Amino acid sequence: MKIILLGYMASGKSTIGKELSEIVGIPFYDLDGIISEKENASINFIFETKGEIYFRKVEHQLLQEFHQQKDSYILALGGGTPCYANNHLLLQDETVHSFYLRGSIATLVARLQKEKALRPLVANIPNEELTEFVAKHLFDRNYYYQQAKHTIAIDAKSIEEIVAEITSKLT
Ligand code: S3P
Repeated sequence: MKIILLGYMASGKSTIGKELSEIVGIPFYDLDGIISEKENASINFIFETKGEIYFRKVEHQLLQEFHQQKDSYILALGGGTPCYANNHLLLQDETVHSFYLRGSIATLVARLQKEKALRPLVANIPNEELTEFVAKHLFDRNYYYQQAKHTIAIDAKSIEEIVAEITSKLT
């Protein structure tokens, strides 16, 4: 079974993916982790030294390779992955169960205020400007996120509740 988790930065894709992996017994992978390993550098360092366009190219290539090589996986995408290089087409693949983990602007901003440092797109945005940034960014990205087969609202839910909702849709 192929399961893809997508959503904005700090929507919990990796946390949920790891827990889901324990429950359904399918291995978990993280696309940012795969990119970091291949490039032998942190995501921050890749953005800093080679730029976002380079990152998006590598992200697209490694996603394609990964999907073609693996039969069964849970994969957490990066927040921007579905929005570039036609990566969203993968969400329509009949063999893929895709889930958009949808958080409200308030929830995502609250989390990002604590977790900005490792995320190059928001690391330098002052906390007081984060709501405006996330609102606009999410507006632009929504079109792509909504192409997932399922949408799971994450606000005020525990990890266990979110995982249970996902498994209930895996038929
Ligand atoms: C990005 C999100 C990050 C990472 C990169 C770009 C984005 O992943 O891929 O910093 O464009 O939203 P997370 O969603 O895991 O933070």
